[in-house]
Amino acid sequence: MARYLVTGGAGFIGSHLVEELLRRGESVRVLDDLSTGKVANLEAAAAAAGTAVPEFLQGDVADLAMARRAAEGIDYVLHQAAIPSVPRSVADPVRSNHANIDGTLAMLVAARDAGVKRLVFAGSSSVYGDALELPKREDMPCKPLSPYALQKHVGEQYLQMFTALYGLETVTIRYFNVFGPRQDPGSPYSGVISLFVKAANEGRAPTIYGDGGQTRDFTYVANTVDGVLRAATTPGIAGQVINVATNGRVSLNDLWAQVRGLLGVTTAPVYGEPRAGDIRDSQADIRKAAALLGYQPIVSFEEGLRRTVAWATGRI
Ligand code: NAD
Ligand code: UD1
Repeated sequence: MARYLVTGGAGFIGSHLVEELLRRGESVRVLDDLSTGKVANLEAAAAAAGTAVPEFLQGDVADLAMARRAAEGIDYVLHQAAIPSVPRSVADPVRSNHANIDGTLAMLVAARDAGVKRLVFAGSSSVYGDALELPKREDMPCKPLSPYALQKHVGEQYLQMFTALYGLETVTIRYFNVFGPRQDPGSPYSGVISLFVKAANEGRAPTIYGDGGQTRDFTYVANTVDGVLRAATTPGIAGQVINVATNGRVSLNDLWAQVRGLLGVTTAPVYGEPRAGDIRDSQADIRKAAALLGYQPIVSFEEGLRRTVAWATGRI
């Protein structure tokens, strides 16, 4: 049994990592400030795994004393805590910088000093910006278009620096538009799939920012969890940055058509101004994940969307 710390473990992706770790019989501690996460997510994760709720510390990951307390006795840190929204970072760059850069630095220092075996970081495809070539490969230059994307890029550079300077093993997994059960549709900053499913279920029109032709490599959360857990324990990959996604590409217009189709509604979307800091297209090259981690997507976009709609609405 290994000892895992999941920062942001009360959030959407974090709680799925917790669930899978509990299912595998690992020991789990969670650090979360509950800014967007919920204790109910941990309870749902434990119930799904058939175990007790894991140890929970409520606090700010950027508080070094708290990060040190959380890292004590830990083998692997899965660092998920962040303010994950692009538009929220445009509206309030200072607050998102605190969680996303100060938090990552504090966690790195705490992990180094506690002698953890490896820290895996929730990176983001947003770091690529509008690279001209698709699919996006890890060796392409990064061109962050928003404070959030810049903060994630700084985070991955801090990881590599800690590996080079202090010998702390680190790996960045670049996530691509993750979706699934427990993604919270509670704010306009929430992930688009959670918002579209909620709108369709309530018979409301969603807002599409821009012409709806922008595309994303929407990735069902089980795939991301599989990639991250492989990254924690696969030997010989310290310092690497690796895409984990499906290698697909779905436009916002297609997404709404599919959500609508699953729920049998005919509502047309409302179109608004494009969002500042938005990227146009996103699609991952996942050959590096296959080569280094033995990763392949396990749940397709269509199947993941069906499961997500079923979870959110109980209607299919
Ligand atoms: P989420 O908001 O559900 O989870 C983030 C969690 O971090 C929440 O539980 C929140 O309460 C916690 N948190 C925020 N600031 C904190 C702080 N200062 N101290 C302690 N806890 C704090 O979002 P998510 O979608 O599950 O995102 C998880 C991670 O994955 C984030 O790092 C995000 O940037 C990254 N990511 C997400 C996606 C996606 O499509 N959802 C894609 C790429 C990267
Ligand atoms: C998402 C993640 C981010 C992650 C990035 C890269 C969230 C909230 N954001 O950013 O953490 O790093 O993927 O994987 O999980 N849109 C609409 N209508 C809406 C909401 C959004 O048209 O009501 C559009 C947006 O303008 C954008 C697309 O949908 O073009 C996706 O938006 P969003 O779900 O917020 O994700 P990203 O910005 O891609």
